[in-house]
Amino acid sequence: MKKRHAGAGLAVIFSIFFLSLLLSCTRKEEPIKIGLAGPMTGDQSKMGLDMKNGAEMAITEWNQKGGVLGKKIALLVEDDQHDPKQAVSVANKLVNDGITGMIGHFNSSASIPASSVYNKAQIPMITPASTNPQLTEQGFTSVFRVCGRDDQQGLVAATFVADVLRLKKVAVLHDKTTYGQGLADEFVKALGNRVAVVDYNGISQEDKDFRAVLTALKGKGAELLYFGGIYPQGGLIIKQARELGINVPFMSGDGVIDQKFVEIAGPSSEGSYLTFSPDPERLGSAKDFLRSYKAVYGEPGPYSIYAYDAANVMLRAIETSKTTEGTAVSKAIHEMKHAGAVGNLQWDEKGDILRSPYVVWITKNGKFEEYWKPGEAIP
Ligand code: ALA
Repeated sequence: MKKRHAGAGLAVIFSIFFLSLLLSCTRKEEPIKIGLAGPMTGDQSKMGLDMKNGAEMAITEWNQKGGVLGKKIALLVEDDQHDPKQAVSVANKLVNDGITGMIGHFNSSASIPASSVYNKAQIPMITPASTNPQLTEQGFTSVFRVCGRDDQQGLVAATFVADVLRLKKVAVLHDKTTYGQGLADEFVKALGNRVAVVDYNGISQEDKDFRAVLTALKGKGAELLYFGGIYPQGGLIIKQARELGINVPFMSGDGVIDQKFVEIAGPSSEGSYLTFSPDPERLGSAKDFLRSYKAVYGEPGPYSIYAYDAANVMLRAIETSKTTEGTAVSKAIHEMKHAGAVGNLQWDEKGDILRSPYVVWITKNGKFEEYWKPGEAIP
């Protein structure tokens, strides 16, 4: 009887031992999850996929070196379809899935509503691309961007129009989104009373025919057409403007500077001025990124490098804070100086980078090249 008891006791001890071994193995295999969201399908999917590729490359490099905090890293990708409601829904999903950090979203109209969800869960969020000032003006200590802001971008565009091109009258169109209208308004604000806005109008992202609004602005004497929005509409607007005989220069921002713009607009894209950060091809800090990215994914999009840096910042912050606890990771980002592929990055108390990155580019022979930087003489 006694013997039978001892045998059963031993079996229980062995079962507990193997069960805990199994549990600890499963726990070890549970990766650290990083979320990423943007437009992965539809007309802006090029931008979403560029971001996904950049972040994925950073994570692959970390995993090759053993991961972070002794665990592998997994990237959880969600499609927000550049829709504010869908953005909130994927944010809730990613929080429920147990992400430690968030890379995204792409559009300000997605990042701003989604940021409340991540902030409530105290999950740090770094957007590679959302430039609307409001995102970092909400007082959230866990929200960051590695790109600039539209008050900086609009100012550079306005300075270029007023001081370099020395124009007196412009027409302004925007896509009625947080980003597009916001950037157009920052541009107008920065023009002040130096340049007259002879036409100001919103278009719908659902439309493909902008001839009515373009015909209305024709004849108002604008010397430049400024557009706040993204390349699918930007490309069509300039194409249709040229067809209607509107031959003044076209200017826009970071949402338009992609090869897709040239594909849509064709030769009408020539001579367009676009504000964006400096060319990575001219940065020593971007050499390794460019070589590795091109070998795996081909030509990077404008925001691939920003997603790569954002993911590296997030993983470094997890590593240095030695925890996946959100407030500690956010604190580590606030205190970090990061030598990124785009250059040195550091954040202010709002989560904005310390310096405005914007320069003016021009479209030439179907490619984009840097044209003018603030403070430089007229090209
Ligand atoms: N900069 C663009 C935005 O904020 C992509 O929506």
